[in-house]
Amino acid sequence: MTHLVNLAVIYYSATGTGTRIATEMAQAAEAAGARVRVRKVAELAPRSAIDANPAWAAHHAATADMPVSTTEDLAWADAVIFGSPTRFGNISSQLKQFFDTLSPLWQQGGLADKVYSGFTSTATLHGGHESTLLALYNSIHHFGGIIVPPGYTDPIKFVDGNPYGTSHHAAPGPDLGSIGDDTRNAARHQAERTVRIARALKAGHAA
Ligand SMILES: Cc1cc2nc3c(=O)[nH]c(=O)nc-3n(C[C@H](O)[C@H](O)[C@H](O)COP(=O)(O)O)c2cc1C
Repeated sequence: MTHLVNLAVIYYSATGTGTRIATEMAQAAEAAGARVRVRKVAELAPRSAIDANPAWAAHHAATADMPVSTTEDLAWADAVIFGSPTRFGNISSQLKQFFDTLSPLWQQGGLADKVYSGFTSTATLHGGHESTLLALYNSIHHFGGIIVPPGYTDPIKFVDGNPYGTSHHAAPGPDLGSIGDDTRNAARHQAERTVRIARALKAGHAA
């Protein structure tokens, strides 16, 4: 019997890189047979800050109609992939604020025993790919979650080189927001692996 996996991709993105990665992951997870919800977390920045950056303002407008994640998405999910751009080597305050709304579900044990994974992006080559994912995964330990990193479980991981999760070097410029094939392939592999492990876990619980 094949067990259907519910995957929530919950992320923050200011200028669109994270949205591209989330979209790629969602498509790969659906192709792997999962039911998928893609959700942004609520924006916290003042309008003046958003408008001061044309790329941020454009992406904010383009994703205005996208659903905002709620605690219920976590309750629904068997597996969750979180995403955030690096903010000084850490996750964004927007994603952290979302985490800080999860206490009631956490108190009921509702965050535990799920599969979790993560992705990030940076503006500079070594600007926080690994530290941001490790910071994200700190919270997953407190959830009682099962972290499923990609490791080097596919040849693509020797290309993108980050065993902690998909990460993209989003260099400022005209291509900001777009992702190349290496990041796209890494995102697809991570999503497929997350679904596969979550499905095996669900089948194991049901047995
Ligand atoms: C407050 C702030 C802190 C940042 N810190 C870093 C950093 O430490 N290293 C880095 O490479 N990029 C840093 N960035 C750049 C973002 O990581 C980059 O814009 C982001 O990865 C783009 O992702 P997005 O298009 O999904 O928003 C920072 C950006 C902001 C606004």
